Amino acid sequence: MRILFLGDIVGRSGREGVLSRLPTLRQKLALDLVIVNAENASHGFGLSPGISTDLFNGGVDVITLGNHSWDRRDLIPHIDAAPRIIRPLNFPPGTPGNGSVQIELADGRKALVVNAMGRLFMDPLDDPFRSINELLTRHRLGVTTQAIVVDIHAEATSEKWALGNVLDGRVSLVVGTHTHTPTADHRILPAGTAFQTDAGMCGDYDSVIGMSKAPAMTRFLRKMPGERLQPAEGEATICGIMVETDDATGLARRLAPLRQGGLLAQTMPDF
Ligand SMILES: [Fe+2]
Ligand SMILES: [Fe+2]
Repeated sequence: MRILFLGDIVGRSGREGVLSRLPTLRQKLALDLVIVNAENASHGFGLSPGISTDLFNGGVDVITLGNHSWDRRDLIPHIDAAPRIIRPLNFPPGTPGNGSVQIELADGRKALVVNAMGRLFMDPLDDPFRSINELLTRHRLGVTTQAIVVDIHAEATSEKWALGNVLDGRVSLVVGTHTHTPTADHRILPAGTAFQTDAGMCGDYDSVIGMSKAPAMTRFLRKMPGERLQPAEGEATICGIMVETDDATGLARRLAPLRQGGLLAQTMPDF
């Protein structure tokens, strides 16, 4: 299965970067499944139902979220009717929406997508390791599903590496989101799981993690609340990771980063 995962879409710049390229990418890379993190898609904060519809119409199959899941409150009454939008699995019991979704491709193959949130330097939540382990008692890679992708939305690199190793051999891909900074450590772990600490953001990198620089810098320089943070509006670099999995085992055969547009060094998967 050929899977593309794109990191946090930030504001209009990120949305336009993704939507303008996705139809071509789907075709050129023969993608079976496209997953995006869209917790910052609506003006940097949250995801509106309207923008989720634009992303689905533009070629996205599954949307993941994170600590900004509920910044747009109009998503709360919408999410239960939109199972392809998932929020972190380890939110408290009773939270609207789901932390995972099983997708069936047009050819009948299945993929499970999971969203979880880390706890180091983040809001306290249920244990993501235990939550995912519990979920995986009901889903077996290569048996009940051809692929399993885990978006670990977390600040700490150590927590992400630990999760990758805990899940090695039981899922196809563990990829981090939330830092808005792509890491160069994509690799296949010893038991066959593809891993990258952070996919990076889809947004304008002439910024402070996607937000326009002046108000973001003021927060650090003056230690006073300044102007409201606004997404930077220059051209986005869309950042993510592509993985090809073996349908029999569900494990990764190859992976490569993708960075297109905007300021960052460009790279395109060549398989
Ligand atoms: Fe984010
Ligand atoms: Fe986040």
